[in-house]
Amino acid sequence: MTDRELITQAMHASIHAYAPYSKFRVGAALECQDGTVFTGCNVENAALGASICAERCAVLKAISEGKRKFLRIAVYSQSADYCVPCGTCRQVLCEFAPEIELLCARSDGRYVSYRLRDLLPHSFTKDFL
Ligand code: THU
Repeated sequence: MTDRELITQAMHASIHAYAPYSKFRVGAALECQDGTVFTGCNVENAALGASICAERCAVLKAISEGKRKFLRIAVYSQSADYCVPCGTCRQVLCEFAPEIELLCARSDGRYVSYRLRDLLPHSFTKDFL
């Protein structure tokens, strides 16, 4: 699967976003090692702390379906700037895929690619426990 195809899946997932409070609709597409893709969208809540980001939505769907090895995740929002994962999502991704590649896209279709290692250096992992 090309980067562009994964980003397109993230873009389609953003259509389902439930974001009545922020109006910031996000979609994510998580590629597993076996080629399966799980999508996710942000799901907000009147109790704002109960909201969940698109990236974690995709990760939880994958984990709950028995997948734990991830290669790439695309994140899309219809915004002028690239949509990058929040700190909590970086930490959740790090639990399963510290080497994952992130494709962060913006509304004009351009994207930038990062390694999670670079976005979350010196991370806290299960090795500390
Ligand atoms: N959000 C995501 O879903 N992913 C990101 O990478 C950035 C932020 C959501 C959380 C909230 O619903 C809205 O965007 C505004 O913060």
